[in-house]
Amino acid sequence: MRKHFYDDKQFDYRDYWRNRKYEDWCEKKVLKEFFSLVNQQLPLQEAQLCEIGSGFGRLAWVYLPLVKRAFLLEPAAKLRRLAKKELKEFSNFSFIAEPVETAVLKKETFDIVLMVRVLHHLSSPSLVFKKVFSSLKPGGYFILEFPNKLHLKNWHRLFKDPKIFLSLTREDRRSPKNRNAQSIPFFNYHPRWVTKELKKTGFLIEKKVSVSNCRSPFLKKLLPLSWLKFLERLLRPLFSLLNWGPSIFVLCKKPDY
Ligand SMILES: C[S@@+](CC[C@H](N)C(=O)[O-])C[C@H]1O[C@@H](n2cnc3c(N)ncnc32)[C@H](O)[C@@H]1O
Repeated sequence: MRKHFYDDKQFDYRDYWRNRKYEDWCEKKVLKEFFSLVNQQLPLQEAQLCEIGSGFGRLAWVYLPLVKRAFLLEPAAKLRRLAKKELKEFSNFSFIAEPVETAVLKKETFDIVLMVRVLHHLSSPSLVFKKVFSSLKPGGYFILEFPNKLHLKNWHRLFKDPKIFLSLTREDRRSPKNRNAQSIPFFNYHPRWVTKELKKTGFLIEKKVSVSNCRSPFLKKLLPLSWLKFLERLLRPLFSLLNWGPSIFVLCKKPDY
C-alpha cells in the first residue's frame, strides 16, 4: 500500500462522508447494537478497545463514551491530527501510529477490536485476523466490517462470468491502470470466505448483519433519510440472510475456554 494515500494533501477523507449520512447512520446503528450485545457479556465501562484504521475518529463517537480506554490505530498522520482535533472532548484514548501489519499488539490486551472499512485495503487479511485474535483477551470480541462481493447490485455479473462472481476469491476493484501504478488495494470479499477464515483463526461468529442495504444513488436521491432508515430496518433481516447488502458487519468472539 502507498502509505500516503490518506495523507495526500489533495484528499480529505471527511469529504467522502459529507453526502453519506444514510450509510453513517446505518453503520453507527449496527455498532451500537453490537456494543449493547457485548455489554451483556463484559462490562464496557471496564473495557479496553482498539480500533484498527480509525481514520478521523468518525466511529470513536460511538465507543469513547462507553469504554474505559481506546487505542486508535491509524497509520495516516493527517487523519490522526484530525481525530485529535475532532475528539478533543474525550481523554480516554491514545494513538498507535502504525499500519496493523507492523504494529506491536501485545498478547491478550484488548477486550474489543474494531475494524470498519479497512479490510478492503489489506493485502494479507488472514495474517491480520491472527494478529487480532492474539491481541484479544479470552472472551474478547472482534467487530469486523467488509465490502461484500455478492452485493445485490453486482448480481448481473452472475450472467457474465458466474465462476468468477461466485468464487470465494476476493475481487480487486482497482482499474488495470491503478493496479499497475500499485495504488492502494481495494478488495471486495465473498462473505463465506471471510466467515471461513475467521473460524479457521479460532473465532466464533455470533452475528452477521447486512448494512446500508439501500445504498443506491437512485434511491438516495428519491427518498428522504427518514424513509431510507425505515427501509433499512425492513430489509435488514432478509438481506442479512442472503448476504445482499454492500457492507457486512460481523460480531465474533474469541472463546474463553
Ligand atoms: C476507508 S478509511 C476508514 C476509516 C474509519 N474506519 C471509518 O470507517 O471512518 C480506511 C482507514 O484505514 C486505514 N488503513 C489503511 N491501511 C491500513 C493498514 N494497513 N493498517 C491500519 N490502518 C490502515 C487508513 O489510513 C484509513 O484511516
